[in-house]
Amino acid sequence: MTDPFDIRRAVASDAAALAAFATRLFRATYSDDTAAADLDLYIAKAFTPDMQAAEIADPSGAVFVATTGGTLAGYAQLVVPASQPGTAVLSRIYIDADWRGRGLAKNLLDTVVAECAARGVQHLQLTVYEKNARAIAFYTKVGFVVTGSTTFTVGDDVQKDVVMELDLSVGQRP
Ligand SMILES: CC(C)(COP(=O)(O)OP(=O)(O)OC[C@H]1O[C@@H](n2cnc3c(N)ncnc32)[C@H](O)[C@@H]1OP(=O)(O)O)[C@@H](O)C(=O)NCCC(=O)NCCS
Repeated sequence: MTDPFDIRRAVASDAAALAAFATRLFRATYSDDTAAADLDLYIAKAFTPDMQAAEIADPSGAVFVATTGGTLAGYAQLVVPASQPGTAVLSRIYIDADWRGRGLAKNLLDTVVAECAARGVQHLQLTVYEKNARAIAFYTKVGFVVTGSTTFTVGDDVQKDVVMELDLSVGQRP
């Protein structure tokens, strides 16, 4: 059976629900490896309704939401830095636990890739926590390759991230 997902560009009225959704999934994803106080510090800065509204409105990026029955099931955020023409960053992709393993992450990524094509982006980059094995497996499955490592700070916790990149110029992906 096909799950009835609607994937669309986020709008201003999504900001509050998206902030709550992003907070819940961020906490659930990283709470095994990150202290609650560090998660709280990050969440307080990154996932306020005002911050989500600003990201939704920012023309140098795009936020996409996936809903089912009017409820959020996932979201993805693309950032296209003006300083790096042809390169964009998949800064977030999160699927609620009930909907993982059903192809929704790939569908959201396809939407992001279509946005990249519309903006002339040829390289899609991301960073992912080195202990996030499921996300790394997903990215590898859809064609990202590891290009390096970096750090990502959650509160006061400096964590090691893997840098991955998807070459969109080749025109074919798994
Ligand atoms: C990352 C995410 C978007 C991927 O979506 P998904 O629906 O889980 O992706 P898929 O199920 O298509 O692919 C994940 C793969 O990892 C595999 N996997 C599952 N658990 C795993 C684990 N603990 N270690 C390694 N691989 C694992 C799955 O079997 C699957 O591979 P397969 O399709 O070949 O069987 C989703 O898991 C998610 O939202 N996770 C929490 C938030 C997150 O980590 N976001 C990314 C931040 S960088």
